[in-house]
Amino acid sequence: MQTLGNTHPLTALAPLQAQYPSSRTILVSGATAGIGLAVANRLLSSPDQHLLILAGRKVSVLDNFQSTHPDRVITRAGDMADLEFVKGMLQGVQFDGRLDALVLNHGTLGRCLRLGQMEADEWERTFRINVTSCVVLIKETLPLLRKAKGRIVFTSSGAALNAYPSWGVYGATKAAINHLTMTLNNEEPDVTTLSIRPGVVDTAMQMEIREKYLHNMDEKDQQKFLSAKRDGKLLPPEKPGNVIAELAVRAKKELSGSFLR
Ligand SMILES: NC(=O)c1ccc[n+]([C@@H]2O[C@H](COP(=O)([O-])OP(=O)(O)OC[C@H]3O[C@@H](n4cnc5c(N)ncnc54)[C@H](OP(=O)(O)O)[C@@H]3O)[C@@H](O)[C@H]2O)c1
Repeated sequence: MQTLGNTHPLTALAPLQAQYPSSRTILVSGATAGIGLAVANRLLSSPDQHLLILAGRKVSVLDNFQSTHPDRVITRAGDMADLEFVKGMLQGVQFDGRLDALVLNHGTLGRCLRLGQMEADEWERTFRINVTSCVVLIKETLPLLRKAKGRIVFTSSGAALNAYPSWGVYGATKAAINHLTMTLNNEEPDVTTLSIRPGVVDTAMQMEIREKYLHNMDEKDQQKFLSAKRDGKLLPPEKPGNVIAELAVRAKKELSGSFLR
């Protein structure tokens, strides 16, 4: 029996995994809304009876997962900006020697300021949430992921490649995620790591863009985001969410290091 940290086991997961050999233990961050919520729902609806560690700040959503799936879900409520929380996040979780995948999906746009408007602490905070928290969590879990020949799936963004004015910090964090994907592929032969751009998806993040951040963007970019909503072109979160869930369970090693769309 292997635990991360030396605290008490939270729940006895082992019996389920003995009964369902295809069951995987998967951590999903940003599981309380949008794409991450869709990933969690897809994994929970699988006949393979996956065991999930679900993270986010919205306690009510996490509590709902916990009460509907008490034997298959562990929740971790906290802010990814708090690296002590991230470091201790899996302490006391009993994996019965296994953790098969991380879905590192949480993310923030930051405040969508142009570089000339941005203070260093805003830049640093956005990087801490989108990038450094992932590095901390990966470091804590690599021994188990190596052992399981596991997977890391990052939710990246087209903004990693396209430099929208006022999205500088967000795009830089997603470019960093893609670079981490390539580095992990080269450093960790036993772990399959990939990042995915989910498309333009109908979530709170898109609403935030339309309602709070358009004024700082160029006119053509404003029109792009407004018309995507108006013309019904936004993807439902389940579309990328289902793909991400499947990749977390069965992405092939050949995909490791790649940025998928
Ligand atoms: N929507 C799109 O069009 C789109 C396009 C490209 C990439 N993405 C990426 O997709 C991922 C999911 O975004 P989404 O569109 O599903 O947006 P969303 O509905 O706003 O969900 C964001 C998720 O991240 C979590 N999160 C954000 N900041 C956090 C923090 N400081 N600490 C802990 N959790 C935090 C949120 O949980 P709490 O609020 O509970 O903390 C929520 O579960 C993000 O990485 C985003 O960059 C989205």
